[in-house]
Amino acid sequence: MRSGDQIPIQSTTRNRAMKRHHTARYYAHRVKESLTARITKLICSIFLFILFVLGLIAFILWLSLRPHRPRFHIHEFSIPSFSQEIGYANANIIFNVTDRNPNHKVGFYFDAMQITVNYQEQNIGNVILLFPFYQEPKNTTILYGNIGGAALKLSGELWQQIVADRTRGTLTFSLGLSSSIRFKIFAWISKRHRIHATCAVGVGSDGFILPSYKDKRCPVYFT
Ligand SMILES: *[C@@H]1O[C@H](CO)[C@@H](O)[C@H](O)[C@H]1NC(C)=O
Ligand SMILES: *[C@@H]1O[C@H](CO)[C@@H](O)[C@H](O)[C@H]1NC(C)=O
Repeated sequence: MRSGDQIPIQSTTRNRAMKRHHTARYYAHRVKESLTARITKLICSIFLFILFVLGLIAFILWLSLRPHRPRFHIHEFSIPSFSQEIGYANANIIFNVTDRNPNHKVGFYFDAMQITVNYQEQNIGNVILLFPFYQEPKNTTILYGNIGGAALKLSGELWQQIVADRTRGTLTFSLGLSSSIRFKIFAWISKRHRIHATCAVGVGSDGFILPSYKDKRCPVYFT
């Protein structure tokens, strides 16, 4: 039993010695480890800082280059035949929409512009307006046109309806513009995107756009 009692004491002493020994090695190891950790941390910090600066530069570049969509405004829309009472066969629609490139550095390449006129969800006219054109930054293009003759698909029945609606007040048309567009940033040219602008138009009984619809911005979306 005594020798059995002594064994734990001896082993404890040995353990203490071993612990002290381990501790010294442990500290040496830790110093080495902390040095490595510090260097790793430093490298990581430098790397993150470089990444941050690059990100900041990219963000500033993006802010100054980011393409704004073209801005369309409707200025004129009229059916002059209303005041002349010449009937649907000789009716025509005159419109004037401006298309502005609001960017400083981004140019637009437009393909031919397709114009569509709807009256209460019914398509009544289509015309292709411009040949493909390049729009410089900060430039405004006037999209002015006349839809008449065969381009104006007015039946006698629809014309009767329009004339009858006219006596009740406002007539609501919508003028749609659609084209494919490419963005030019320095020498880089994007792929084609389809752009659509839709201008809501209220027309008074005199056949002219109502003041509340004039010079209004037309919402733009891409497909
Ligand atoms: C179209 O509207 C714009 C802006 O109001 C105007 O400057 C331009 O002269 C108009 N063009 C025509 C042909 O009426
Ligand atoms: C817009 O572009 C046309 C054709 O490139 C050019 O003749 C006109 O001067 C430009 N307008 C402005 C305001 O830069």
